[in-house]
Amino acid sequence: MSSYIKNIDFFKGNKPEDLVSEFGTPLYVYNESVIRKQMRKVEGLIKKYPYTANYSIKSNSNLSILKIALEEGLNADAMSVNEMRILLLAGFPAERIFFVPNNVSSEELTFAHDNNIITSLDSIDQLDRFGKLFPGSRCAVRINPGVGAGHHEKVVTAGKKTKFAIAEEDIDTVFEVAAKYDLKIVGINQHVGSLYMVPDPFIAAIGNFLRIARKFPNLEFIDFGGGFGTPYHKLNDEAPFDIDKLSKEMEPILDDFVSDYGYAPLFKSEPGRYCVAESSLILGRVFATKSNYGHKYAGTDIGMNVLARPTLYDSWHDIEVIRNNEVVSLEDGTDVITVTGNICESGDILAKERELPIIKTEDLVAVLDAGAYGYSMSSSYNLRPRCAEVLIQEDGNVKLIRRRETFEDLISLF
Ligand code: LLP
Repeated sequence: MSSYIKNIDFFKGNKPEDLVSEFGTPLYVYNESVIRKQMRKVEGLIKKYPYTANYSIKSNSNLSILKIALEEGLNADAMSVNEMRILLLAGFPAERIFFVPNNVSSEELTFAHDNNIITSLDSIDQLDRFGKLFPGSRCAVRINPGVGAGHHEKVVTAGKKTKFAIAEEDIDTVFEVAAKYDLKIVGINQHVGSLYMVPDPFIAAIGNFLRIARKFPNLEFIDFGGGFGTPYHKLNDEAPFDIDKLSKEMEPILDDFVSDYGYAPLFKSEPGRYCVAESSLILGRVFATKSNYGHKYAGTDIGMNVLARPTLYDSWHDIEVIRNNEVVSLEDGTDVITVTGNICESGDILAKERELPIIKTEDLVAVLDAGAYGYSMSSSYNLRPRCAEVLIQEDGNVKLIRRRETFEDLISLF
């Protein structure tokens, strides 16, 4: 597609220059309809058996987005005390929250326990700590099935070389520790990796996980994890992740399991990116253009402090150029150009030597697919305050859903 912004009428009639004159740049802009559409798709993944999608809030924990997830009927997973607290604040009841931490203190485990939030333990050591603290309790364990997948080695969360979860060969020890403290293992979970673009690795992962699940009697739930991908190359017509195909391909595997196991426990998934990535773009301003030793640069205010993914994982985010509120077409001429931020690091690069419409100083750039692991991984490096976030609501009205940080916010901790 030549323009995502035009294709889905992203701004719903609002003018990008009006948004940035009211809220400043850089600015995270979210489209509520996209969030709801994606959340409904994951809700429909398993229809035949009891199922919930747990929205993985590490991808985006803006309170307004959590309230949308709650309204859409999603459950949620949390990685920390504050993620649990913000879910409670958003109105999620304890039974709709799943705590899936790693390497946490007794205080964090106690917070979950005191709030009746079920916890998954990620090592024998943590299971032992939990057992000592709360003998006789219900809990889950996270299993590492020995194989992983993902878009970058830094996001592969299972397999023989990651810090996550309990190896399959240690399952007997899980049962020993559980027996020692009279713990009831009511659920098992896995998360194999992030950003599958086709169902096959997820299908393989659930088949394998259900084989392991057969070793656990009386499970109340089985959580397959997240990882459903986002087409980050949508301007080059990359196809979206086909969740309907996944749904169909999962069905016989679930049928087999249920008939062997004797009943259907609650099945869960844990999507983060799929729910929110495409719902947001970052608007930033081009403040300088130049050519250095034959290489062209467009310098914007969207630095690695605003969006860390390109620097951290070499991730690709499509970029559209906006001039006088209109998306500039590739047909009006192109340049091969590197788009950078304003941070004092040579790795502060949004797009390297990319063919883009000709960019002029004072243009706006829109960095697409920024809704997942965008704001939530942003920082105040170089003492740049974190951005504001606005939501284009379904009726087209714009709502400020997080104000921009100020200098006073930054120094208030000293
Ligand atoms: N469940 C667990 C236990 C996880 O560790 C994760 C992500 C998810 C669910 C959600 O995965 P998703 O559906 O969003 O792929 N910052 C990286 C991604 C790190 C993912 C970490 N775990 C990125 O920007 O690509």
